[in-house]
Amino acid sequence: MEMRFDGKTVIVTGAGAGIGREYALEFGRRGANVVVNDLGGLRDGSGGSSNAADMVVAKIKENGGNAVASYDNVSTEEGGRGIVATAMDSFGRVDVLVNNAGIIRDKGFVKMTAGEWDAVISVHLRGAYCVTRPALEIMRNQNYGRIIMTTSTSGLFGNFGQSNYGAAKLGLVGLMNVLKVENKKYYDIHFNAVAPTAASRMTEDIFPPNIAERLHPKFNVPIVVWLCHEECTENGSIFLMGAGWFGKAEIVCGKGVCIGDARRDIPAEEIRERFAEISNMEGAKSVSNVEVFSYMSPLLS
Ligand SMILES: NC(=O)c1ccc[n+]([C@@H]2O[C@H](COP(=O)([O-])OP(=O)(O)OC[C@H]3O[C@@H](n4cnc5c(N)ncnc54)[C@H](O)[C@@H]3O)[C@@H](O)[C@H]2O)c1
Repeated sequence: MEMRFDGKTVIVTGAGAGIGREYALEFGRRGANVVVNDLGGLRDGSGGSSNAADMVVAKIKENGGNAVASYDNVSTEEGGRGIVATAMDSFGRVDVLVNNAGIIRDKGFVKMTAGEWDAVISVHLRGAYCVTRPALEIMRNQNYGRIIMTTSTSGLFGNFGQSNYGAAKLGLVGLMNVLKVENKKYYDIHFNAVAPTAASRMTEDIFPPNIAERLHPKFNVPIVVWLCHEECTENGSIFLMGAGWFGKAEIVCGKGVCIGDARRDIPAEEIRERFAEISNMEGAKSVSNVEVFSYMSPLLS
C-alpha cells in the first residue's frame, strides 16, 4: 500500500533547493501539509530571499498538494519558533521535522577563522536545536513525531577542509542519541539521522559531470519518507544513501579488557603492553551507555 501522509504536517528546513526541495515535493505528493522553510541565501549562508521557498510551495500546489512557505533562519531561536509557529498557524499540527538546512565554509583547519567555524556550526547544529526544541514540545504533547537529523560522511568518517562541517554533523548524531534516550517514554516519537550524497549547489565543485548526473538529490528521498512514516518504528539509527544505494552506519564499542582492579594505579606502560587487547574489535557492537558500565562492572563491585 502507498505510504501516505494525509493530515500530517511535515516541516522541511532548507527545502528551497537541493535535497530538501526533493523531500518537500515528495511529502507534498504523498498528501502531507508541507512547511517549506528556506532562508534563500548563498551556499556560504550569506544573503537571503523568499524566492527559493516560494517556488517550491508553488510547485507542490501545482502538483495538487498543500504547502506554506517559511523564510526563517533556522539558526536563531526566533527563527526556529517562527518555523514551528507557521506550521501550527497554517495546519494546527507538527508531525515530522526534517532538519536539512545547511551551508559550507570549507578551509583547512589551521586557516579556518572563528567566523567560518561559528557560521557552519550555527546553521547545522544550533539550527537543529532551534527548530527541534519547539517542534518536540508539540510532538510530546501529542505523543507522535518523526525527527530527522542530517549528518554527513564528513563527520562520520572525516573529509579534508570540513572540520567545522564535520564537527557540526557528528554533533547532530550526538543530539539524536540523547533525544532518543530522553524521550523513551514517548513511544511514538522517533529520531534518526541520514547522511545523503547528491549533486547539489553544496557539492557543485566536487563531482565531475558524469558522476553528478547519477547523484540526483531525489535518490535520497525514499528512505527519509519511510523513516518519517507512521509505520516505521526505527529509532536512533544512522542511514547513508546516494545514487540509489542505501546503507546503515553504527558507532560500535569493543568488549575491551579489565586491566586493573580499580584500587591500584595503572601505569601507562601496562596500556602499551596490552594495547592490542584494548583495541580488539572482535564482538564489537552498538551499545547503550548503561552497557558500557556493564563492561566495567567486574571492577565496580
Ligand atoms: N549534497 C551532499 O552530497 C550532502 C552530503 C552530506 C550531507 N548533506 C547535507 O544535506 C543537507 C542538504 O544539502 P544540499 O546538498 O541539498 O545543499 P543545498 O545548498 O542545495 O541546500 C541547502 C538549503 O538550505 C538553505 N539554508 C541554508 N542556511 C539556512 C538557514 N540558516 N535557514 C534556513 N535555510 C537555510 C539554503 O538556502 C539551501 O536552499 C545539508 O544539511 C547538507 O549538509 C549534503
